[in-house]
Amino acid sequence: MNAMHTYGFLLLPSHNRLYAAGAADLARAELLVLSDAVLDGAVREVAAAELGGVPYVTFRAPELTAGQLRHVANLSSLYALFLIEGEPDAPALRPVPVERLDRFPSDLITIQKYPGKTNEDFTKLLLNVTAMACDAPQRLLSGGLRVLDPLCGRGTTLNQALMYGLDSAGVEQDARSVEAYENFLRHWLKAGRLKHRAESGQVRRDKRTLGRRLSVEIGENKELYKKGQSIGLTVVQADTVASDQFFRPGSFDLIVTDAPYGVRYGSRTRGEGGGLTRSPLPLLSEAVPVWARLLRTGGAIGISWNTYGATRAELAEVLADAGFEVRDTEPYRGFEHRVDQAITRDLIVARKTA
Ligand SMILES: C[S@@+](CC[C@H](N)C(=O)[O-])C[C@H]1O[C@@H](n2cnc3c(N)ncnc32)[C@H](O)[C@@H]1O
Repeated sequence: MNAMHTYGFLLLPSHNRLYAAGAADLARAELLVLSDAVLDGAVREVAAAELGGVPYVTFRAPELTAGQLRHVANLSSLYALFLIEGEPDAPALRPVPVERLDRFPSDLITIQKYPGKTNEDFTKLLLNVTAMACDAPQRLLSGGLRVLDPLCGRGTTLNQALMYGLDSAGVEQDARSVEAYENFLRHWLKAGRLKHRAESGQVRRDKRTLGRRLSVEIGENKELYKKGQSIGLTVVQADTVASDQFFRPGSFDLIVTDAPYGVRYGSRTRGEGGGLTRSPLPLLSEAVPVWARLLRTGGAIGISWNTYGATRAELAEVLADAGFEVRDTEPYRGFEHRVDQAITRDLIVARKTA
């Protein structure tokens, strides 16, 4: 057996702000999911600790290999990683270099601010955890997973996928959100002088307009673009229930989405928050079977939602009915957190098995 080491990491300041008292718990859950999927279950004894008056998350593991560290580097919460040596009452911290996958400047993720945006750190967490549940989690690092956000708003998931170098597509019914995202993306690509090709227009079939589509091919750099190794991003403005009119069956590895919260326009009250919350269940019951067809067998789906609108058991049932196997072990149950008075958010992840 390899000797065990103690590691500790600092949480990103934004992660601490987002989850407040729950920050260490969410970091722990994400790390354990990652450990099971790509670190041979090597991580043990994940705990919150204070060193020199500063909060850390610590864990025990055999010395992490370079390949394993490349995964750990992309934890949504990780700011800086250390090996903790010496005696418990006089620990010495040795920095462990981490290389994030980020292929573009961080303003891709942070510039857009608008009501209804899914927090970008949480979106990264949801994408990571969903990728870990598919049958090829290692491909997160090699650009080999194709991502669909079928309720994409103004593209937070698509931006994170692009950041990772993954091809992605989104569906959103609100025309203003799609237009705003297209404007942002075109402007950002131009401002960053990134090689790209963008086309948008109506999608018509049998003399009927099905929706509007934006297709973009983006080069991480000139050389890759010239070689034809660009990253694809497509956004369709349409009802998500018609997603299968735009994409081929089995053409995605991951579906990652934040379900509507319905807080402002809701008609049904649940939970202690007292906010008006409409259940996402009618939409999800109709849409999940459609989305399931777009996912290949072995692919995974991750949905976040407001628990005041539906229970975990209700979402699990919708997924199971559509042929998914829900991931329900302990770390997958560690993501519930309070967002505000009217929203307590959780996520559920499942793999398509047939
Ligand atoms: C929680 S928001 C997602 C926000 C997105 N992650 C972002 O950061 O911009 C849910 C989105 O689902 C969209 N939506 C609701 N019902 C839809 C439907 N039937 N078809 C397509 N989009 C829908 C809403 O317009 C909203 O933008």
